[in-house]
Amino acid sequence: MFYSGIEPAPADPILGLTEAFRQDPRPEKVNLGVGVFVDDKGTTPVLECVRRAERLLWETEKSKGYTPISGPAEYGAAVAHLVFGKDFHGIAANSVAAAQTPGGTGALRIGGELLKAFRPGGTIWMPNPTWGNHPGIFAAAGLASRSYPYYDAATRQVDVEAMCAALEKVPAGDVVLLHVCCHNPAGADLDAAGWARVGDVAAKAGWLPFFDFAYQGFGVGLEEDRAGLLAVMQKAPEALVASSFSKNMGLYGERVGSLLLVAESARDAQAGLSQVKRLVRVLYSNPPKHGAALARMVLDDAELRKLWVQEVEAMRLRIAGNRERLVDGLARRETGMDFSFIARQKGMFSFSGLSDAQVDFLREQKAIYMVKGGRMNVAGLLSERLDYVCDAIAESLKI
Ligand code: LMR
Repeated sequence: MFYSGIEPAPADPILGLTEAFRQDPRPEKVNLGVGVFVDDKGTTPVLECVRRAERLLWETEKSKGYTPISGPAEYGAAVAHLVFGKDFHGIAANSVAAAQTPGGTGALRIGGELLKAFRPGGTIWMPNPTWGNHPGIFAAAGLASRSYPYYDAATRQVDVEAMCAALEKVPAGDVVLLHVCCHNPAGADLDAAGWARVGDVAAKAGWLPFFDFAYQGFGVGLEEDRAGLLAVMQKAPEALVASSFSKNMGLYGERVGSLLLVAESARDAQAGLSQVKRLVRVLYSNPPKHGAALARMVLDDAELRKLWVQEVEAMRLRIAGNRERLVDGLARRETGMDFSFIARQKGMFSFSGLSDAQVDFLREQKAIYMVKGGRMNVAGLLSERLDYVCDAIAESLKI
């Protein structure tokens, strides 16, 4: 028989945790696993700007007909403006092309497929650590991968020296994956000087940057968060970018992302996009329509956009507040460990420094779910659960 010969696959290290969490009957359970924003009532809200766009769409949409293979051109233009800023040289030169993809994951995978087809033999270099799904995505696309040093557990910061020393040696035919902001899982980003150095290294070594930009707006701000990407693009002639509206528009399940190609000329960008379309056609034919229509409305309508900017800021401030409250709560438990670094990290995640044994203890004994490696979704903390979480972490430090 066919299925009897198949061994069950292990659960996904992140989304598998959510499944386990849902099945956990303990009422005290806390989900700090998957990177999903929740408000203080424990809900992942539909943003008000999205709700209004949805109403508008309901009133005006005339057809559910297919969307173009790379998504509507207007969507691509709006995303390119958001990702790079309207003054980016590639926008005026038409040397940026964008394709709508099913989420940021879809963008990474299509980008991987494009690299496999046109950089055969090229290796993709990922930071250590990186998002748990990155290695699988690029392996599935058939790319070889290696890692470069990124996070220094001792200083809890990016080890710029080690990172640049490694990237200087990456061959010109290879690709380097860079998290633009809110590094997942480390929460530690390069500063302006660090990005300038990476730009210099990219220009000198000649490798191709592939930016993962899943958290625009969750670091410092929607415009500020692109600074690292722009710094590298001042020096590097070409790049790929995977961007996503999962987090900053709360469109998680709608699967709205984009793959952006930065080329040297309009011809090259269109050639790249034509190959992206060919790849998409045989994978899922064309992307889902609804979420991208909402994103486009929010970006293109001045009032909705203004509201969105405010809502992104509110999410960012709530996460920053959670960081402060967690640091305070842990400091009051006198654990002997300095957790102040959590307040300095950016984005949804904190690399808590907890060992896998401590993470297991928290899940098994306290029903607190975190990702192996000690990654904690700070955006998942509720005020009413804060004391419980701090007590449990303090207890875990004793094992
Ligand atoms: C995460 O890292 O938790 C998120 O990006 C969600 C996911 O798909 O893993």
